[in-house]
Amino acid sequence: MIAINPFTEQLIAWQKVAGRHDLPWQRTRDPYRIWLSEIMLQQTQVSTVIPYYARFLDSFPDVRALASAPVEAVIEHWAGLGYYARARNLHRCAQQLAAAHGGKFPDSVEVLAALPGIGRSTAAAIAAFAFGRRAAILDGNVKRVLCRQFGVDGFPGSTAIDRRLWALAESLLPDGDIEVYTQGLMDLGATLCTRSRPRCADCPVAAGCVARREGRQAELPTARPRAKVPERSATFVLFSDGQRLLFERRPPAGLWGGLLVPPEGEPAAVAARLGLQLRETRNLPALKHAFTHFRLTLEPVLCRVSPQSGVAESGFEWVAIARAADAGVPTPIRKLIRQVASAGG
Ligand code: ADE
Repeated sequence: MIAINPFTEQLIAWQKVAGRHDLPWQRTRDPYRIWLSEIMLQQTQVSTVIPYYARFLDSFPDVRALASAPVEAVIEHWAGLGYYARARNLHRCAQQLAAAHGGKFPDSVEVLAALPGIGRSTAAAIAAFAFGRRAAILDGNVKRVLCRQFGVDGFPGSTAIDRRLWALAESLLPDGDIEVYTQGLMDLGATLCTRSRPRCADCPVAAGCVARREGRQAELPTARPRAKVPERSATFVLFSDGQRLLFERRPPAGLWGGLLVPPEGEPAAVAARLGLQLRETRNLPALKHAFTHFRLTLEPVLCRVSPQSGVAESGFEWVAIARAADAGVPTPIRKLIRQVASAGG
């Protein structure tokens, strides 16, 4: 074996002694079994896949059995694994193989990658494990390993970084032991170079790792750039009569639909509209809350009002301060209520 890069060499040596060797889809060259495992493992972790994999093979032992089964039976065997497009593509792929390839898997990455449900990385994994082909894999775990090891900055989902990572993945391929190397990459990403709290102390390639050297394991791979979301602010008036707070029930549709929320608007105007007599007004600290599509700064004002004055309007409710936090209010409002409660109403 002539491994050009120390990363490649160390990974292969490590996989042989410390990698996984007894997974149900290892120790076989059967492309059907390898393909099935790779599809199941695309979005699902090993421990979940194992029982599904065994049941699936019992019912559909080869390409022809799968191709001739009704799609409903295939989906049934997939129930609980999620991402059901995988099951439909699996079935379509088996039918294409039966119809156009004599039920046999092609041994070229390009032809494999043209089949339903088989992307470039999955095609490479199948080609490597089943046919010993020298091809690069690049799934999410491998991207993480490479970004950390080689200090690749930038969101891996961008076209530019994706190109760089594929080129890097290709450049690291060994001339021999492709199966061991490919499995080693998977094992490293799944067991040591995990998203959070990577086990660098046990890592065979820690010595050359840029992220480790620079203490940037948590920053690499670079997260998706946050889309700019609009910022809004709103004043919420917490009318207190000393015992209770005033709430308005939101209409069922829209933001905070059906929940209790303090009246919104300029305090004196809202008090006048509701016939409340303001005694004392105090601004509370602003509170930021992130929604999916915008960020809201809540500007709360605590207003003491005379007991029992005003509010005949329907849709308004006085709620005991001690109960209010649990009365079906949105999270940021709950925080405001706690502030009021701890300040003695
Ligand atoms: N994840 C994707 N492919 C895998 C494989 N062959 N073994 C373990 N985990 C994997």
